[in-house]
Amino acid sequence: MSDALVIFTPSGKRGRFAHGTPVLTAARQLGVDLDSVCGGRGICSKCQVSPGVGAFTKHGVTVSPDALTEWNSVEQRYKDKRGLLDGRRLGCQARIQGDVVIDVPAESQVHRQVVRKDVTARDIVMDPATRLFFVQVAEPDMHEPSGDFERLNAALADQWGIGPVDAGLDVLRALQPALRKGKWGVTVAVHQGHGIARPVAVDIWPGLYDGGLFGLAIDLGSTTIAAHLCDLRTGAVRASGGIMNPQIRFGEDLMSRVSYVMMNPGGDIEMTRVVREGMNTLIADIARAEGIDPRAMVEAVVVCNPVMHHLFLGIDPVELGQAPFALVTSGAMNLRASEVDLVAINAQARLYMLPCIAGHVGADAAAVALSEAPELSDDLVLVVDVGTNAEILLGNKTRVLACSSPTGPAFEGAQISSGQRAAPGAIEAIRIDPVTKEPRFRVIGCDLWSDEDGFGAATKASGITGICGSGIIEAVAEMRMAGLVDASGLIGSASQAGTERLQPEGRTHVYVIHDASDTGGPRITVTQGDIRAIQLAKSALYAGARLLMDEMGVDKVDRVVLAGAFGAHISPKHAMVLGMIPDAHLDQVTSAGNAAGTGARIALCNIAARAGIEVTVGNIHKVETAIEPRFQEHFVAANALPHAVDPFPELSR
Ligand code: FES
Repeated sequence: MSDALVIFTPSGKRGRFAHGTPVLTAARQLGVDLDSVCGGRGICSKCQVSPGVGAFTKHGVTVSPDALTEWNSVEQRYKDKRGLLDGRRLGCQARIQGDVVIDVPAESQVHRQVVRKDVTARDIVMDPATRLFFVQVAEPDMHEPSGDFERLNAALADQWGIGPVDAGLDVLRALQPALRKGKWGVTVAVHQGHGIARPVAVDIWPGLYDGGLFGLAIDLGSTTIAAHLCDLRTGAVRASGGIMNPQIRFGEDLMSRVSYVMMNPGGDIEMTRVVREGMNTLIADIARAEGIDPRAMVEAVVVCNPVMHHLFLGIDPVELGQAPFALVTSGAMNLRASEVDLVAINAQARLYMLPCIAGHVGADAAAVALSEAPELSDDLVLVVDVGTNAEILLGNKTRVLACSSPTGPAFEGAQISSGQRAAPGAIEAIRIDPVTKEPRFRVIGCDLWSDEDGFGAATKASGITGICGSGIIEAVAEMRMAGLVDASGLIGSASQAGTERLQPEGRTHVYVIHDASDTGGPRITVTQGDIRAIQLAKSALYAGARLLMDEMGVDKVDRVVLAGAFGAHISPKHAMVLGMIPDAHLDQVTSAGNAAGTGARIALCNIAARAGIEVTVGNIHKVETAIEPRFQEHFVAANALPHAVDPFPELSR
């Protein structure tokens, strides 16, 4: 009998195969991305395909109605017990017996593409480091004595072509009961690939384990810790959560935490303990809410700035507090999660930490680079990750530069008189009428009194507790546009501005956004001190960006990307009115959401991305703001609103 022509879609790969060849075998020979956990035993259903049925012509092939064999008993048993969608077949059981076009649905592809909902700088292609493998292990034989682990390794090599794997004591302890309970069939979670000498068996289950495999992408910030629980098969974010970094009680910003260590011997140990405890609590809470077994969480990727990096790893950070800001290592780290006391996940789970760019520019900036890929951009793109410390990248295909800038916590609502975190009750956006000077605002979690545009008049407001970072930025920018504040940042008087909302306080004035003090509620104001705090923060941010532009030899960028949880909420127009970012066409200022968290997710879901970002980081040129005199010059000039010297022509368009 002649061979049959087989075409796989969507890949378009085609080849001729002898009649009787299993579809899974044909797929593997052609390099078609078709999943399998059970190795073709008809029990995992990961190999599902949708063959074209009936006599028709597709892709130039006349498909015969009986191009695949009838259901065999294994496939029929699976369908009867677990069910299969109409038109689906198990690729490992169905055999080819005529020309056929076979579609591999997305859920059957190992390397499926996860399209990002936020910014599509780089979609995620699934290729996780840890995957499940079902193996049938040879039973022990007195005449050929070998350990169960050695026979497991032989089975992995024979049935999957991987290994030999290493295994920790926990896995060895679980091996014998699993083998006997599973009648010598076990599922092994194997971590392999980049950065480790040999694959590692992370866990083992009797029989076919089909309970899901998860990883955590963790953005460890100085102020907050954010974690995304990701499905390692689909790439979907199952749940996200965040907590305040408990180290905050040792100092609001990085340098105050380093100072705490300098002044308090053993302070680093304390901070290491609390951040690990916080991370474990966060992970446990997310897993509990989602009903996820800690054992199923087999990997974590952590991104953070260098001080957080050292404190999380239990390394004294004092060298990072003084020039030349030496890191213990700038390289990526591959560890067992238990080495850093991450006990809320699988005891043998792996931990990957992205490389740091330099002593002030950490793995979080590397994660932003992984997410936004400036090194692939034709345009000159400025990526600003706004937080207590701003990480700034500037580059394109030819060159990428990076620096960090100490913006302080004002952008997060801290050190602001009525400031608070972005939580229910916080004013997050504000508009001030340029004629009446009356504010209308939007409050997180309170939309009962707001108009259709989401903004409500101050006179109708209720449930307000304070103003968060994006709110204070908009407030200062709106005050500037309404003529309540001059270019130097000075608040005018009520008589000058013609509004009772400007009220004297001490030797300066405040702008009263909301006053419920009559009824025991809060009085929310913008003070002169608030404006100064915002001016200092935005000057640091702008000066960092400007320094990179000097280094690049440009006075304009093509695009600006605002990253960070806070960056997602900044209005580009208001940021530009304040002069937080260099002048650019407003259409070219976009938000990337939590790009550091997304970068962590990419590294979690795609092993090749880890190698890629390590190369990229090696090519990024670091500019040190702390010792660069021009930084101070830019900082001083950037104090004005929007700037003392640099033009902002796009603002007047
Ligand atoms: Fe597992 Fe086909 S490969 S059912």
